[in-house]
Amino acid sequence: MNDKQRVGHFAAEQVKPGMIVGLGTGSTANHFIEALAKRYHEESLPVQTVASSVVSAIKAKQVGLPLLAIEHIDGLDVYVDGADEVSPDMTLLKGRGADLVREKLLARASREFWVLIDYSKRVERIGQNYPIPLEVIPFAWQMVQRLISQVGGQSRLRPSGNGDGLAVTSHGSLVLDVDFPYIPDIHELNEQLNSISGIVEHGIFSKLATTVFTGGDGRVEVQTAED
Ligand code: 5RP
Repeated sequence: MNDKQRVGHFAAEQVKPGMIVGLGTGSTANHFIEALAKRYHEESLPVQTVASSVVSAIKAKQVGLPLLAIEHIDGLDVYVDGADEVSPDMTLLKGRGADLVREKLLARASREFWVLIDYSKRVERIGQNYPIPLEVIPFAWQMVQRLISQVGGQSRLRPSGNGDGLAVTSHGSLVLDVDFPYIPDIHELNEQLNSISGIVEHGIFSKLATTVFTGGDGRVEVQTAED
């Protein structure tokens, strides 16, 4: 079992009967979905799920988990997802999979948000290894790009997987990936990005994670927001 599988299985063990569980997107979230489905089928664990993307909805259907439509719920018990970077204060960077609107909506609407990572995702500061992704309204991308340059960011539109076109999220947005040479305060940047019209969502998840599960060296380390 590799670290991503281990942390996915560990988190699935923490799910309680009756929970509504939000399913994240990515390879680590997929291991969680598989492990949760195993408990659902083998232990008859009563759970319902809601997907954060088309990809995670397809995965949930493949493994036979009961899926609720996002528009039919007003909250959930736990949202479980991976991340691209996690800093010591549990701030996250997400968005390699691009579906930030649904991911942040579920993270905010959930009583708990469990983040599943391996040690490669732990960083000293957000933006260390990846640009900050912004989901932008298609007609606004150039205006957003100019406003971002005024706060020191160099941005480019994300190409589609095969490089022939542009990446489009399941929400119909384009994605701008932004490099900031220096981010003095990630929480302040979070607020600045929240206030720019035309940005529908961005990849900084500030003060949302309640628990971070880190897989490595054959074990899982648990950090909670109270630590
Ligand atoms: C998708 C995400 C993913 O959770 C993140 O990219 C981590 O992916 P993986 O578990 O495959 O490393 O934020 O938008």
